[in-house]
Amino acid sequence: MMKKIDLSISLFEYDSINELNDADRHLLEKAREAVQAAYAPYSEYYVGAAVLLENGEIYTGNNQENVAYPSGLCAERVAVFAAAANNPGIPVKAVAISARAGKFSVDNPVMPCGSCRQALAEYEMLYKNDIRVIMMGENGKVIVTESIRDILPLMFHAEELKKTR
Ligand code: THU
Repeated sequence: MMKKIDLSISLFEYDSINELNDADRHLLEKAREAVQAAYAPYSEYYVGAAVLLENGEIYTGNNQENVAYPSGLCAERVAVFAAAANNPGIPVKAVAISARAGKFSVDNPVMPCGSCRQALAEYEMLYKNDIRVIMMGENGKVIVTESIRDILPLMFHAEELKKTR
């Protein structure tokens, strides 16, 4: 029999960066700094990301565009891949994201794209360690989730590759 399944996710919304706890605010400030070095001449949408590892290290990244558009990469993946490449075996604790645009003010929190959510989910599954996501625009409110699961419901699980007949 068909049944309707309602899923529930939790988001935490803050009116401003000043309401965050010290660790979240610090990581978000790093993401905001990283916006400055984004290379986004085509979209003029400059994104910064900062990844906090379990050992306390922070890696930042920003979007790197390319004249062959699909060859570019989002800020979140630049940051998390740099962190993972240099720290095998160290869990990812949190990621903060911010953005600025050339032609308008980014007043709403930046939501990571589907591919970045999937890339982050890999490390959450690998280390069985929830990744906190702190999202902001250029100014205004901040949205926080406690796990990638909240922004990527019904994700493809690694277990699906391991089944035996
Ligand atoms: N972008 C990011 O870097 N992160 C996001 O979460 C959203 C989109 C980049 C990709 C592209 O360089 C530009 O923003 C416009 O899509």
